[in-house]
Amino acid sequence: DDPTADPFEIAARAAADIARHTGVERHDIAVTLGSGWGRAADLLGETVATVPADEVTGFSRPALAGHVGTLRSVRTPAGRSVLVIGARTHFYEGHGVRRVVHSVRTAAATGAGTMVLTNGAGGIRETWRPGQPVLISDHINLTAASPLEGATFIDLTDLYSPRLRELARTIDPTLDEGVYCQFRGPHYETPAEVQMAKTIGGHIVGMSTALEAIAAREAGMEILGMSLVTNLAAGIQTTPLSHEEVLEAGREAEPVISSLLARIIEAL
Ligand code: 6GU
Repeated sequence: DDPTADPFEIAARAAADIARHTGVERHDIAVTLGSGWGRAADLLGETVATVPADEVTGFSRPALAGHVGTLRSVRTPAGRSVLVIGARTHFYEGHGVRRVVHSVRTAAATGAGTMVLTNGAGGIRETWRPGQPVLISDHINLTAASPLEGATFIDLTDLYSPRLRELARTIDPTLDEGVYCQFRGPHYETPAEVQMAKTIGGHIVGMSTALEAIAAREAGMEILGMSLVTNLAAGIQTTPLSHEEVLEAGREAEPVISSLLARIIEAL
């Protein structure tokens, strides 16, 4: 939170904490598990160590139900080390964008070259159903914030790796894709805002991921983004939205999407 501190130095300290707690010096892949995706951690391979988030510099336990609050080192059958991040800081918590992207910068500092970002989100396409996983093809950042500070003019073309999307489709050829709109939250959008998102080219609305993807690109990582459609967005579905509904859809879809994610990561 200290504005004079170097966020990359803090991320390096967090990576050192992870190495000390897990005994794993380097990770190959990092995965942030959003609502509905939690069980993927168990399917990826053998858990080497689980670290409570508050044992790692810059991380804190989530206040929110549905978020697990741990970092885990998992060894896949192919022998790769995956850092599973179950502790996401959301922009709506109000701690600033540095805290939001700290997990991504930490993942990069552990050596991870691939960042898999997952979330639960609202669908704008009427044909989508709750419980459906969707690949993120691009994003629209509606937070008016950036994790970059100063004159850091980085390119965001193909931010969500076409190669990794293609690879995901070899595992599940039925996967749809769409443009993710990150709103600040924590309230859900109004139906008018959902119509705006649709008009400007959005297909999925959520409260995470875009800022993290920008930081991952800055760190030189290859990015795979996936949303679980937990509900249709306001005005697209006729019933009111609730956090309970989002969690329930996540719980129901969890076994299927977690195994999909594990198979994709195994193929990376
Ligand atoms: Cl409809 N909007 C946002 N911003 N986040 C969500 C959502 C909707 N459904 C699940 N998460």
